[in-house]
Amino acid sequence: MPWVRPNDVPYPNVWWTFCAPDPDRDDGALVTYRVEDLTEDRIEDAIKLYTEHFLDDEPLCAYGRVRHNPLSYEEVVSFWTHVFDMKMTIVCYKEGSKELVGANLLSVKCADDKMDISGLIKSESMQKLVAVNEYMTDTVNLFERYGVDRYLTAYGLSVNNRYRGRGIATEILKARRPICRAFGLRLTSTNFTAIGSQIPAAKIGFQTDLEMKYDEFVKVNPTYTFEGIKSKSLKLMSLPIE
Ligand SMILES: CC(C)(COP(=O)(O)OP(=O)(O)OC[C@H]1O[C@@H](n2cnc3c(N)ncnc32)[C@H](O)[C@@H]1OP(=O)(O)O)[C@@H](O)C(=O)NCCC(=O)NCCS
Repeated sequence: MPWVRPNDVPYPNVWWTFCAPDPDRDDGALVTYRVEDLTEDRIEDAIKLYTEHFLDDEPLCAYGRVRHNPLSYEEVVSFWTHVFDMKMTIVCYKEGSKELVGANLLSVKCADDKMDISGLIKSESMQKLVAVNEYMTDTVNLFERYGVDRYLTAYGLSVNNRYRGRGIATEILKARRPICRAFGLRLTSTNFTAIGSQIPAAKIGFQTDLEMKYDEFVKVNPTYTFEGIKSKSLKLMSLPIE
């Protein structure tokens, strides 16, 4: 049985609030932001955020030209839609504004999950992207390493270009702790593909389980080439929750 969000955890819920600079103010004053569950009425806007502020910037999607290839684009959007259905995706708003500042596609992975998405992915770029992500999680058996039967995982952290460089990604990641506690999860783990997310993750306590330089993947499979990719390495990082 795939994991289902329990009804006893309020939805939508605000998970985290913080202060950070506002790009619309020149005086550097801090404003309040909040991180909360994505609701049905903002799904189209979340897809827009990921399309416009993730696909051309996230190293693996940019390398695979996912936004520019109709089949891979269709596949990634249906994958996001599938993740939204879990009702675990979080979004960030600036207080008093409806603009999407950022988001993180979250999901709960269970040891007995049977779902294999690789059969549903036909485009070459998306197959490669899925394959290297699976290589990381298959190599490190997180269930055994951390003695858990489920954990909170993520499939994309995005901050609107206008808001970057203000610590927003770091704050969105901080919401993982209260979320895990509310759902009784003792671990959160993610494949972080870019330096801009690996630094925030390390800052808040994620430890690296496995680091693979992108140019090392050809040793795993000669088709896993990433020549010219705009990132050094892929890191599987975990945060145990006390
Ligand atoms: C990665 C991303 C989420 C970061 O968002 P952000 O709100 O700007 O991140 P933060 O401000 O919290 O922190 C980023 C940190 O990485 C550092 N950083 C970012 N790019 C860097 C680079 N190319 N080299 C070295 N450090 C870099 C920043 O200096 C900052 O560290 P600091 O606070 O110690 O200065 C955002 O750039 C984004 O949406 N990128 C496109 C999608 C993507 O790649 N997502 C991550 C995939 S896992």
